[in-house]
Amino acid sequence: MSFKSEIQRRRTFGIVSHPDAGKTTLTEKLLLFGGAIQEAGAVKSNKIKKGATSDFMEIERQRGISVATSVLAFEYKDIKINILDTPGHKDFAEDTFRTLTAVDSVIVVIDVAKGVEEQTEKLVQVCRMRNIPIIVFINKMDREGKDAFDLLDEVEQKLALKVTPLSFPIGMGYDFQGIYNLWERNINLFTGDSKKNIDDTVEISDLSDSTLNSLVGEKAAVTLREEIELVEGIYPGFDQDSYLNGELQPVFFGSALNNFGVKELLDCFVSIAPTPRPKASEERIVAPDEDKFSGFVFKIHANMDPKHRDRLAFIKIVSGTFKRNTAYLHVRHNKNLKFSSPNAFFAEKKEIVDTSYPGDIVGLHDTGNFKIGDTLTEGEILNYKGVPSFSPEHFRYINNADPLKSKQLYKGIDQLMDEGVAQLFTLDLNGRKVIGTVGALQYEVIQYRLEHEYGAKCSYENLNVHKAAWVEPQDEKNEEFKEFKRVKQRFLAKDKQGQLVFLADSKFSLQMTEQKYPSIKFHLTSEF
Ligand code: G4P
Repeated sequence: MSFKSEIQRRRTFGIVSHPDAGKTTLTEKLLLFGGAIQEAGAVKSNKIKKGATSDFMEIERQRGISVATSVLAFEYKDIKINILDTPGHKDFAEDTFRTLTAVDSVIVVIDVAKGVEEQTEKLVQVCRMRNIPIIVFINKMDREGKDAFDLLDEVEQKLALKVTPLSFPIGMGYDFQGIYNLWERNINLFTGDSKKNIDDTVEISDLSDSTLNSLVGEKAAVTLREEIELVEGIYPGFDQDSYLNGELQPVFFGSALNNFGVKELLDCFVSIAPTPRPKASEERIVAPDEDKFSGFVFKIHANMDPKHRDRLAFIKIVSGTFKRNTAYLHVRHNKNLKFSSPNAFFAEKKEIVDTSYPGDIVGLHDTGNFKIGDTLTEGEILNYKGVPSFSPEHFRYINNADPLKSKQLYKGIDQLMDEGVAQLFTLDLNGRKVIGTVGALQYEVIQYRLEHEYGAKCSYENLNVHKAAWVEPQDEKNEEFKEFKRVKQRFLAKDKQGQLVFLADSKFSLQMTEQKYPSIKFHLTSEF
């Protein structure tokens, strides 16, 4: 197969949702339809179970599982599908944000009863910032939930999306019978035990066909015809370009658990979802079909086996062909590296591969060379943009609890930060180190890993910080900036890249500072 056809047949995407909306179940059903697994229950949920927040072994076990499910690749209708797994737990939201830099599109799962939840809002906001094409899947239609039209309104309002339903439910909850497929203009009704047999469908090609009445009943048939008329009257028709530009979002309804609506989603997905997209680097935009290989690290996973300290760096291939045992330039270190056993991922297993194409993810064994955002190329100096840090929510001083092990402690902190476990800030005033995290859980993970992987001990001390704001002065030499640095010295720090950060102790103080120094911009993300 030609290089161009290999690119054309790849779809790399992520499924995002608020925990419990059904992300794992949907992933599993997609694999089932793709023939990658034979029975439901084969994919383990990698979410940290409720109430497990202080159980280290549980965290470690989950981390182990999540390596296996980091990328789930399978083929469907000759299309190579790469699903990038995103942790649902909110304490790992930063991981999810980073994974979104490696996807070409996303599917957002929403629970019909709960509607748009907090985590979904945040994730969709990040997708919108990057104009990532989005498909919405409204799940759990077998349960009583919100009215379909109300929910579509809610999705438009809360997520600031413009929707176009491509499937529509026939009834809901107890009365839920199936899905009208607006994309293919047919109906799949599940007869028999749908949980076991996904092929048990009846096809009706015309809504006015009277067999519909006998199949779903007079009342449901009338309602469906009215609702579809309404859908077609209210919502814009599907337009591929608008979807690809992130301006229009197709919506599907279904029940992942019961296989309703999943095949409709998958069939439509493979025909409309984007092939690997061009990516902006600081130097230029790189197209996937360029001859020369380039890619970037979006995730690093530590090996939890104490006998093997290596890590797995996940690279998204942006352009060209990645080949085993070939020297590539590690741009930040300006040195050539060869990889003898790059891993590719298939359903839930990984295998060594010789060649990978744009859109694919390869896992490279790493002994500490990589950090998140690093670029590999065939020689060109490229730095891919778009692996930003967001302001952490929690801040604590980290102290060395074993003075004889300070070297180990600093090495450990350095490597864990490169993996993206948390963010490190160094105070300008006294050089003290502050760890910022999205959730409290990370502090336990860091403490545990420092001890078990690096033989170092740490303790934490509370620090009252509301948000970290990256500082962008209009002019470093102007008086206003000098005064700001003098007055706020106590609150200033450097992030790991040496960028200046203002650690505001309250929302109020951040606002006051913004007002007092209008020429300085304060950003809640490291990329501006
Ligand atoms: P997540 O990855 O988004 O966190 O959600 P997950 O798939 O684990 O689903 C959360 C719960 O919702 C699971 O139940 C799952 O079985 C259920 N679920 C998923 N899809 C549907 C659906 O279409 N209809 C209904 N009624 N339920 C659905 P659980 O009891 O928390 O877990 P489990 O014991 O069933 O695994």
